[in-house]
Amino acid sequence: MSKKFYVTTPIYYVNAEPHIGHAYSTIVADVLNRFYKLCGSETFFLTGTDEHGDKIAAAAEKGGQTPKEYVDRISSLFRALWPKLNITNNYFIRTTDPDHEETVRLILQKVKDNGDIYFSEYEGLYCFGCERFFTERELADGKCPDHGTAPEVIKESNYFFRMSKYQDWLIDYIRKNPDFIRPERYKNEVLAFLREPLEDLCISRPKSRLKWGITLPFDENFVTYVWFDALINYVSGIGYPDGERFKKFWPAVQHVIAKDILKPHGIYWPCMLKSAGIEPYQHLNVHGYWNVNEGKMSKSIGNVVRPLELVDIYGLDAFRYFLLRDMVFGLDSGFSEEGLIARINADLANDLGNLVSRSLTMVLKYYEGALPEPGPPEHEDRVLKTEALDIIDRYEVFMKELAFHKALMAVWEVIGKVNKYIDTMSPWVLAKSDRERLGTVIYHITETLKIVSTLIWPFMPESAEKIQDQLGLAKKGKDFRLEDIRAWGKEKPVRPMTKAPALFPRIVSKKQDGSSKEEEKKVPEKDVSLISFEEFQKLDLRIGTVKKAEAIPGSKKLIKLTVDIGEERTVVAGLVGHYTEQDLTGKQVVLVTNLEPVKLMGVESHGMVLAAEDESGVHILMPDADTMPGSKVR
Ligand code: MSP
Repeated sequence: MSKKFYVTTPIYYVNAEPHIGHAYSTIVADVLNRFYKLCGSETFFLTGTDEHGDKIAAAAEKGGQTPKEYVDRISSLFRALWPKLNITNNYFIRTTDPDHEETVRLILQKVKDNGDIYFSEYEGLYCFGCERFFTERELADGKCPDHGTAPEVIKESNYFFRMSKYQDWLIDYIRKNPDFIRPERYKNEVLAFLREPLEDLCISRPKSRLKWGITLPFDENFVTYVWFDALINYVSGIGYPDGERFKKFWPAVQHVIAKDILKPHGIYWPCMLKSAGIEPYQHLNVHGYWNVNEGKMSKSIGNVVRPLELVDIYGLDAFRYFLLRDMVFGLDSGFSEEGLIARINADLANDLGNLVSRSLTMVLKYYEGALPEPGPPEHEDRVLKTEALDIIDRYEVFMKELAFHKALMAVWEVIGKVNKYIDTMSPWVLAKSDRERLGTVIYHITETLKIVSTLIWPFMPESAEKIQDQLGLAKKGKDFRLEDIRAWGKEKPVRPMTKAPALFPRIVSKKQDGSSKEEEKKVPEKDVSLISFEEFQKLDLRIGTVKKAEAIPGSKKLIKLTVDIGEERTVVAGLVGHYTEQDLTGKQVVLVTNLEPVKLMGVESHGMVLAAEDESGVHILMPDADTMPGSKVR
């Protein structure tokens, strides 16, 4: 029996159009889905839309539509986007689907019958943006940390889910299953949250206040809280309780989400599953945020990045590659079009595109598209073969750990090696002097290309298949298994190899445009960011000594530093969780001193501490010997 793999994305709210953040989560799920197919698993991939709740009702009203009209419209935008990004979901769920609504009622009844739902009066602080009650502790300066607005005091009778009952079980489960929530930083975040007593979850809203939701099976005056409704999509979408799909795929489920919705997925959902008698999920895979210009994307700032606009200009595979290569799964990343162009030109046009193009040119020129018989391999050939085969194992490990950037770096290592092998072997010289060696060399090049094309397929399906097509292979894309490429030389071409136009034309901005080469693509004028020395010199970087480090009440991230740079500066830095106040006091740092002051959590910051971030955390930059405070960094 084949192995199973089931992957889900968050079901997206339909109060906003899809942007690059939604695209990222969905492409990650797609990459995983395709990768597990390569591993020979039977897979199922679910995405969809979350359509109930205050937010949606309010957005519909604002647009002068009924909730149903409104959700149908926006949901179809998401649904129409995914095929354009080559997303291979098997099903698209909507929380307004009758089947889903029925499953929500079934689970509510089950949880109630278990004695885990009770009715009670509650007065609390409610954020309408988040659609949930907040404790004082969770607020920052009395405001919702996500929306920056003061919550309203609401007093009402509601139904509650006895989540507190599952606190100890959940802590124990997370400890015993260390990769239940990953990467580790998010597991730690959930455990830190569980150090405080867990409150029961309010799971209803009175219809007098909100009608747009699923009516409770045991009280028709109430609708279901939107999160209790939405999370259930992951089981209703595969036919819980009796469907074959549920039985087959639930044990292999992996969720993909971003850090914003860690709490409902890391805490509510496992407790709900436990109460309903359903096994916990296998993995919760949590990624960071795409930011634009150092900040959150937002309609009001006007910096929302729309996936299709980029795909139209740069091509789908380049876009998919960039997202997966540039973000370290779990950490935040900054999006810039310059970054995208740089990746396309360096990794895709230069490294991969050139390799494919020069390899096929040689096969056509020297063998009219046929695969030559290899002669006895020499040292360099054996080295290339071993490296190409080794990469398959490394790639597999990285992919299973969701270290997509490392998996791609490994593939690019091989691409670099073949390019170098071609330079060293100089087939154009062998063509004149040694036809047998030429055959062996060309054979090793095309064989390695076959491996490369298979490994990039989850990320860049169209380009991978184009390469496989040019190589004249019978199998393409989803037909390949890692086993096929582990068996060196097994998949032989079934027709002559061919050469197609450049896979990834270089991107030149109109500004740089002098000539018009066939292999170049022009995009609207944009500086491919090189800065001049004069521009760099505008930065005033100084060494400072931290005199004092103080927590900022209510902030989870920020710390206030008093830094001596010849004069005293107050600087706010996002170092909580990476450094304690004691760690920082006395340390020397590199400070950008001529930034415009900004107010963060009520404290005016007059500078920025330089730091680097990788998977192990944040590391501040410091001079390697005690340096006079105020010294200029050049
Ligand atoms: N409807 C809930 C999810 C319910 S799941 C049972 C929801 N919807 S959402 O539309 O707000 O989508 C949130 C998700 O969108 C994030 O968890 C992430 O997957 C994706 N992203 C939204 N903005 C993002 C970034 N800026 N960067 C990366 N991903 C982000 O929450």
